[in-house]
Amino acid sequence: MSTYDASFRVWRGDTGGGELTDFTVEVNDGEVVLDIIHRLQATQAPDLAVRWNCKAGKCGSCSAEVNGRPRLMCMTRMSVFDPADVITVTPLRAFPVVRDLVTDVSFNYAKAREVPAFVPPKGVAPGEYRMRQIDVERSQEFRKCIECFLCQDTCHVVRDHEENKAAFAGPRFLMRVAELDMHPLDAAEETGLDRKRTAQDEHGLGYCNITKCCTEVCPEHIKITDNALIPLKERAADRKYDPLVWLGNKIRRR
Ligand code: SF4
Ligand code: F3S
Ligand code: FES
Repeated sequence: MSTYDASFRVWRGDTGGGELTDFTVEVNDGEVVLDIIHRLQATQAPDLAVRWNCKAGKCGSCSAEVNGRPRLMCMTRMSVFDPADVITVTPLRAFPVVRDLVTDVSFNYAKAREVPAFVPPKGVAPGEYRMRQIDVERSQEFRKCIECFLCQDTCHVVRDHEENKAAFAGPRFLMRVAELDMHPLDAAEETGLDRKRTAQDEHGLGYCNITKCCTEVCPEHIKITDNALIPLKERAADRKYDPLVWLGNKIRRR
């Protein structure tokens, strides 16, 4: 078993500000960044705040930025770095810091609440729902989401633009809108809810210019851009330029 001393720079601070603090810390074979943060807590910085739960890449709690890249600390192996590297660990940049590596991600819960839930089809009892396999698989891909919010953190629309947050749901929740809009049993339209229109007008779909940074950081390898955002954009555009919809809107406006 090999062991070496790594150089870590960890952001320490709170809502009032903070700074990077240097540590030299032991690393052993097979360890991940979260192990090293735990060793720092155990040996040098007992009050270092970090959020985690599963240490298995499934709870989505240990999100942080490692050398500037949004990552799950529990799934980032130390073996991907050179022992001579200085490893910088900072809190998610798009969300307000609570303390040290813990951020306030309530923006995401607020955006989740803004997406109206699945509307069950009338006259079909639970257990009687039937869908094509391709539709099942689409939902299953999106439902692998562990709500780590790395995609929300990395998207340039909000990463450095606090002012865009009010109008933009972010990739995770636009993916939710896409899932529901493409769900063959969702009866939202029968209640007057037009998910394509709300994607544009209320969830800020137009802000996304398909840079795919969200897809690149997703630890579940969900093809957020290709399978959710681009199809949703196409469906919203089809609807906008559909001559029947255009005529209907014109008549309604009279
Ligand atoms: Fe995390 Fe991927 Fe879900 Fe975004 S879509 S919150 S990156 S698991
Ligand atoms: Fe942002 Fe992803 Fe679109 S990173 S711009 S939501 S493709
Ligand atoms: Fe659960 Fe990292 S601790 S995803």
